[in-house]
Amino acid sequence: MARCFVTRRLPGAALDRLREVHEVDVWSGRLPPPYEELAARAAAVEGLLTLLTDRVDAALIEHCPRLRAISNCAVGYDNIDIDATAARGIAVGNTPDVLTEATADLTWALLLAAARRLPEAIDSVLAGDWLTWEPARYRGATVGGATLGIVGLGRIGRAVARRAVGFGMTVLHTGGAGSGSGSASGLPLDEMLERSDFVSLHCPLTPATYHLIDADALARMRRAAILINTARGPIVDPDALREALIAGQIAGAALDVTDPEPLPPGDPLLTAPNLIVVPHIGSATRAARGRMADLAVENLLAGLEGRPMPHQVPAAG
Ligand code: DGY
Repeated sequence: MARCFVTRRLPGAALDRLREVHEVDVWSGRLPPPYEELAARAAAVEGLLTLLTDRVDAALIEHCPRLRAISNCAVGYDNIDIDATAARGIAVGNTPDVLTEATADLTWALLLAAARRLPEAIDSVLAGDWLTWEPARYRGATVGGATLGIVGLGRIGRAVARRAVGFGMTVLHTGGAGSGSGSASGLPLDEMLERSDFVSLHCPLTPATYHLIDADALARMRRAAILINTARGPIVDPDALREALIAGQIAGAALDVTDPEPLPPGDPLLTAPNLIVVPHIGSATRAARGRMADLAVENLLAGLEGRPMPHQVPAAG
């Protein structure tokens, strides 16, 4: 029997399976454990089940002599220092596949909401401002037949592209899942930005994709274009995005992820026009969140037994 620390309650019965085999300490707060608390609890366990909001850095790993397995209940694992875990031989798992369709659906919800100005229209009904049918109001962008540019054609990028076929769209993309630049089968980022009506981000956050969408990239986008980010907040430079929206350099943006996250109520970005922000809900369907919890537990069980995890992050990150 191993000791495990789980940094949040998870939906469904997944944690019961872990409790059947191991001694499990679950953080019961709505907010993540503070870093010092996480470090202290992780130092006493062999297994750690984390969320994307838990920073597992080299300093923390150094003070966890017993730790053998970390299971991140997310597909992204930029919150974990993979070089540090690899150096210590700690297995790290993540939860791809089970959230792909849910995240692609949310990407499309944001794309359509931004294109057709849904928040503005809903607000006007609630405010009693629906006075008549007005020819010039609420005119948005055409989605059918437009060009969609995808940055990062991995699992989620491909699922977003599949949906675009139904809208008769032309789909452009940059290189593979981990790349913000062109590859043999993808366009260079600059060209894709210049040709797209909608740009959707699906690459992981790495040093190479940090602020990939900066002032220069935004300046290359069409004035009528809309940016959608359901990947990771720091891929977009928030100051540059705010300025681009205020200047009308792009027509709108819809973000499921932000930097910082959560975005505090007074954050300057929230004053930008034509901006939709939702609170990182890409995978928030009952099915996807349940399957993420199941897979996270399966990964941890395997790692603690010394078996390969069903989804183990490659040591090179
Ligand atoms: C992930 O899994 O990385 C998403 O951002 C949250 O589901």
